[in-house]
Amino acid sequence: MTILLKGGRVINPAENRDETADVLIENGKVKKIDRDISESEADRVISAKDCYVMPGFIDMHVHFRDPGYEQKEDIFSGMQAAAHGGYTTVLTMPNTRPAADNPDVIHYVHNKAKAGQCIHVLQVGAITKGQKGEELADIESLVEAGCPAISEDGKTVMDASLCMDAMAEAARLHIPVLAHCEDRNMVQKGVINEGEKSKEFGLPGIKNTVEDLIIARDIILAKETGAQLHLCHCSTKNSVWMVKSAKEVGVKVSAEVCPHHFTLSTDDMKEPDPNYKMNPPLRTKEDVQALKEGLRDGIMEVISTDHAPHTFDDKNCSMQEAPFGIVGLETAASLTYTELVLGGYLTPMKMAACMSYNPAGIIGIDKGDISEGKPADIVIFDPKKTYRIDKNTFASKGKNTPFDGREVTGRVKCTICDGEVVYMDEDEDQDED
Ligand code: DOR
Ligand code: ZN
Repeated sequence: MTILLKGGRVINPAENRDETADVLIENGKVKKIDRDISESEADRVISAKDCYVMPGFIDMHVHFRDPGYEQKEDIFSGMQAAAHGGYTTVLTMPNTRPAADNPDVIHYVHNKAKAGQCIHVLQVGAITKGQKGEELADIESLVEAGCPAISEDGKTVMDASLCMDAMAEAARLHIPVLAHCEDRNMVQKGVINEGEKSKEFGLPGIKNTVEDLIIARDIILAKETGAQLHLCHCSTKNSVWMVKSAKEVGVKVSAEVCPHHFTLSTDDMKEPDPNYKMNPPLRTKEDVQALKEGLRDGIMEVISTDHAPHTFDDKNCSMQEAPFGIVGLETAASLTYTELVLGGYLTPMKMAACMSYNPAGIIGIDKGDISEGKPADIVIFDPKKTYRIDKNTFASKGKNTPFDGREVTGRVKCTICDGEVVYMDEDEDQDED
């Protein structure tokens, strides 16, 4: 099967290519990129006119809840949500039940994902056994089973010496550590950002310091061990200068920002609504501005979603009782385009870098690049389309989003993984053979 993507604006950070061209896909690979490829060369033609043709997005941070909480999401529904969002590779976090702390869970996830024949799923290994923070998992066995990274996401390994051992082991095995930074002692029972809103709603607050302290600690541990540290879901102003300073002295550190943290601030919370409850929480406008500038300046180089699906019932309760987390896979590209590209912070090329090329480099996978000969993991993105986000159209089981009803610009038209169409926007008129 050969597919021809006709007339799109090909944006490929790996080659610094930004030009109108056709893309011919054959046997799962990009065969040719050229100005005018004849339609007779292909079995199927997909129009990419007025659209961007970019490397398929790579999300370093999703929760698919499988095994253990399949009522919230399972690997199949998660993969569909990812494909709808333009993603061709995702890293699933290990806070499943059981936790992904042993090769059996890793194989289970990878096998189920393969059977689903949709997108690539890479399971991240837990740092400690049962994510209890007491004893290291057998990290080498996780890497042998195919883990691209380790993380304790959902919590922090609070024992600094244990965390240092984990980083040393990750450095030895050449895998990154994806760090969820939250001082468990300081956060106490915090629910939303500490400030005017937490006072207004009478809710316990979460200080920026809760996050900043562990970021600082982990940067020091990475410097000492030589580990490759990747900071998950950075939400504070201080995170940006700490990452900048650490890079300046040669620490191997990278950082991600989620669309909710650069789009919303606490001011957007009109009432205590559990769909605005996530960890880390929405911060102040000042923090939001610093994160946008951090992305603009290339200090923060990854946009990830922290896609965290929960059921309606899970969230249909008080702010205190509700679990942390919102879904993100099906809104990320539109929010990024609307807030950061139209907002003047990122070029389309930088958007492709933050959402695909840079994550691939950090994980060390041969993806995020649609040069000739590379795997055909591609997203076609329509930057002109304006629409209202409707949670009822989500393929994810999770509808827990603060963005329902929000008007955004830019929409995923088609997602191709290993040369197969895994998503096509129903609204689109296709001019196909
Ligand atoms: O909001 C969050 N939800 N933050 C996390 O760190 C974990 C995640 C989850 O698993 O629901
Ligand atoms: Zn986290």
